[in-house]
Amino acid sequence: MRPASIGDYRARARRALPRMVFDFIDGGSFAENTLRRNVEDFASLSLRQRVLRGGAAPDLSLELFGQRLSLPLLLAPVGMAGLLARRGEVQAARAARKSGIPFCLSTVSVCSIDEVAQSAGTAPWFQLYMLRDRGWMKAMLDRAAAAGAPALVFTVDLAVPGIRYRDFRSGFAAEPSLERSLRRIVAGATHPGWLWDVFVRGRPLGFGNLSGAQNDQRSFAAFWSWIRANFEPSASWADIEWLRAHWRGPIVLKGILDSGDALQAVKCGADAVIVSNHGGRQLDDVVSSIRALPGIVAAVNGRLPVLFDGGIRSGLDMLKALALGANACLVGRPWAYALAAGGEAGVAHMVDILRQELTTALTLSGCSDLASVAGCLDL
Ligand SMILES: Cc1cc2nc3c(=O)[nH]c(=O)nc-3n(C[C@H](O)[C@H](O)[C@H](O)COP(=O)(O)O)c2cc1C
Repeated sequence: MRPASIGDYRARARRALPRMVFDFIDGGSFAENTLRRNVEDFASLSLRQRVLRGGAAPDLSLELFGQRLSLPLLLAPVGMAGLLARRGEVQAARAARKSGIPFCLSTVSVCSIDEVAQSAGTAPWFQLYMLRDRGWMKAMLDRAAAAGAPALVFTVDLAVPGIRYRDFRSGFAAEPSLERSLRRIVAGATHPGWLWDVFVRGRPLGFGNLSGAQNDQRSFAAFWSWIRANFEPSASWADIEWLRAHWRGPIVLKGILDSGDALQAVKCGADAVIVSNHGGRQLDDVVSSIRALPGIVAAVNGRLPVLFDGGIRSGLDMLKALALGANACLVGRPWAYALAAGGEAGVAHMVDILRQELTTALTLSGCSDLASVAGCLDL
């Protein structure tokens, strides 16, 4: 039976993936309180039901940085998606192109930006972290520009990686050892479909964008040491000027959760912000994204597009975020689950589910288009 909801895709992904890989996408940091609140706080918001208001099917399309989106949705950057399905980032980017929405490629993807741009037939948005090695950053920005990336998503909430207990327990984030290697072999052997798709047909499995920066392309544990050694904890707002000098297109700051930071983003000339707590994977016990959204929308006051991510699991959640002032939403885990469960077709179907659910929610709340969503919430 075809999955009916994002929750169904999560259940399928849990079955399809070895436990340690599923936990990597599903988990959050520390006690996972923010991860939980991101989802639960949506449920505590009520919608208004309005009837007999006439009107045709609502138009969901919008324009962002000169690009037409068929609905207010983007696929958020998800690192190592090539571990979820064969050449996973290419499959997701193809699904996004066919669905008429942007795909944002993570710095730490398995497939390089060149491979994604060529194989998907369209250049992805590109996500970058602030790294110590400015020479590598400059080269990466040039590479993304040459590939045709329409926008740069600069992630600012990962000065150091969050502490994720699931990844430590599973060994996903730990240095290699005989015991962990054995556990990985057993995990693979009990999921032969995944093993065949990813480890046999999905090679090479390295970090496509990090060639030259990360020496040991074979080991995912080497990735974590590379991360630890290269993230720039002392990054500051002045560094955004450096970025501006080296990137001509739109710069979107991802990981804004505080209205003071949102104001600073406006001041330093960002082109948009993404209200995000990294899907509850960084600082735990911070406010959920949906609770942070209204204050940031008020602070920005229309000067920039405000994008939103964290906890969206249905079209109803999308409607609530849009009603609170988001211009568009991103989803991370939903597309990761769908990719693991069904590859490109799974991701395209997941987008269709959100499209259908958003259309239904808008219609039942009596809204004719995205411009009138502000009145959809029962405040
Ligand atoms: C497995 C996984 C990997 C991620 N990797 C990145 C990344 O490389 N860069 C980044 O900016 N955000 C990354 N994120 C965060 C997402 O872009 C996004 O902010 C988050 O998933 C949104 O929450 P949601 O999963 O509830 O939709 C990752 C999220 C997950 C689940």
